[in-house]
Amino acid sequence: MYRTNTCGELRISDAGKVVTLAGWVQRVRKMGGMTFVDLRDRYGITQVVFNNEVDADLCEASNHLGREYVVQVKGSVAERSSKNAALPTGDIEIIAQQLSVLNASEVPPFTIEDDTDGGDELRMRYRYLDLRRNAVRKNLELRHRMTMEVRRYLDSKGFLEIETPMLVGSTPEGARDFVVPSRMNPGQFYALPQSPQTLKQLLMVSGMDRYFQIVKCFRDEDLRADRQPEFTQIDCEMSFVEQDDIINLFEGMAKHLFKEIRGIDLDQPFLRMSWADAMKYYGSDKPDLRFGMKFVELMDIMKGHGFGVFDNAAYIGGICAKGAASYTRKQLDSLTEYVKRPQIGAKGMVYARIEPDGNVKSSVDKFYSQDVLQQLKAAFDAQPGDLILILSGDDAMKTRKQLCELRLEMGNQLGLRDKNKFACLWVVDFPMFEWSDEEQRLMAMHHPFTHPKDEDIPLLDSDPAAVRADAYDMVINGVEVGGGSIRIHDSALQAKMFEILGFTPEKAQEQFGFLMNAFKFGAPPHGGLAYGLDRWVSLFAGLDSIRDCIAFPKNNSGRDVMLDAPAPLDQKQLDELQLAVDLKDK
Ligand code: AMO
Repeated sequence: MYRTNTCGELRISDAGKVVTLAGWVQRVRKMGGMTFVDLRDRYGITQVVFNNEVDADLCEASNHLGREYVVQVKGSVAERSSKNAALPTGDIEIIAQQLSVLNASEVPPFTIEDDTDGGDELRMRYRYLDLRRNAVRKNLELRHRMTMEVRRYLDSKGFLEIETPMLVGSTPEGARDFVVPSRMNPGQFYALPQSPQTLKQLLMVSGMDRYFQIVKCFRDEDLRADRQPEFTQIDCEMSFVEQDDIINLFEGMAKHLFKEIRGIDLDQPFLRMSWADAMKYYGSDKPDLRFGMKFVELMDIMKGHGFGVFDNAAYIGGICAKGAASYTRKQLDSLTEYVKRPQIGAKGMVYARIEPDGNVKSSVDKFYSQDVLQQLKAAFDAQPGDLILILSGDDAMKTRKQLCELRLEMGNQLGLRDKNKFACLWVVDFPMFEWSDEEQRLMAMHHPFTHPKDEDIPLLDSDPAAVRADAYDMVINGVEVGGGSIRIHDSALQAKMFEILGFTPEKAQEQFGFLMNAFKFGAPPHGGLAYGLDRWVSLFAGLDSIRDCIAFPKNNSGRDVMLDAPAPLDQKQLDELQLAVDLKDK
């Protein structure tokens, strides 16, 4: 037997037992005639003592151990004289009787401890070593527990876990595809699925009325902290349901996860906010509701007083930061610089402080009488000590997005975005389409299979931009953790949708014929949702990036620096595929 116990298991009640442990040497400390070795495995750390006076040869052998050697130690469990309250095994140590080195190790490139000296790139290159660290390992454990709970919940609700293929056809909507050449079909390519969307809809046509899959999805898009080119969805679909049925079932799953994983009881129904309100009051379709600072529109109050910037603006809006009137000039200047950064793009920022006597002092005082400034104060119900921050612009949507960035930054600065506090909501009634400047046409905001709201169907011909969809996103702390919709199950309506999206009937048939044809054979009404597993785990683990809950993630340029992928193919492989590489940008 390699081991009788793990390195995280032994307690004072085990004192006197003879045990065998196996693990990695985290540290070796020599003190007088004793050598102390911290032995680590996935479960914890146990101190092993080699005593020169008990067994000089053994103690000498222990002095040759290096960091990350893999060893097996047999010894007796003893109470420690100086206990370590920080370790669950800190009351005991193992008095070594036998030592075997199972494998030596080179000196690791960084220390494998909670506070490592390794930088990001180095740790990614040696990710298998990084994963030995507590902090990273426990994220993977959390991920495992979450997927177990997801399976348990969905199984109890009658869902079947069904796998769909990874080699599928390329779809033009959505993000870019990752493509895979086919050797047996020269010059033809598979695509890796961006999601199993159409396949799960076909499963509904097959009568698998409750489907789920914990599934890898692939999207060739620009990366951010909450985006990876391959990520995992908890993908679900149901037949014979309406929007409320889906929302209720998946809100139930969210509550189940909060309870089982974080021990939090969420007994109230989640707030539902229309997309239009989310944009109007928070400038975002994923508002962070851990804190207030709801937008107030100020066109009526602030226009027409001779301040050109506001007089010419299409939109003027502000937020009120409670207790922030103490912000210094320097802090306000740096906030102004923040919103003027090219990524945000505001032209400037106006502020107004509410003084202790209730008077309002603003950065544009010369244009506004105290009377008008009092109206401004009243619009926010602002109190002495509060700070009002105002942005304006000639495009309402753009300005709202800038104000959203300012609001989030103020939330950060005032410590209002506590990672242990959770604000969950559904954003509903999304527009069906959005205009794409790049493509110069309407694009589906969710995807082309989303059902328009019944009452908006007549607008499809007359005013498609005004059509709302039976689509919903779940948002937690400003993160879109999932989204879905009721689908079109009628081939004629689906064909109409493709027409509005600019597909010719031939093109629609070529790309999506399989789905539209299937809909002719008795497609049930259906709908579904996909949660982003990586985002859920990072939210529960309090991580800044989803990378930290993925065993082998990609870096910001989409590279796996450990595998050194992507990489060129060798000529033999290219020949088999009958492909030649001719880079346009050499
Ligand atoms: P959607 O594109 O909204 O919907 O994706 C569902 C959820 O997946 C997560 N997600 C991502 N996570 C990490 N990295 C990414 N690049 C990434 N992209 C998306 C998000 C998102 O909410 N087929 C539809 C779902 C449906 O309608 O049923 C879909 O894929 O948490």
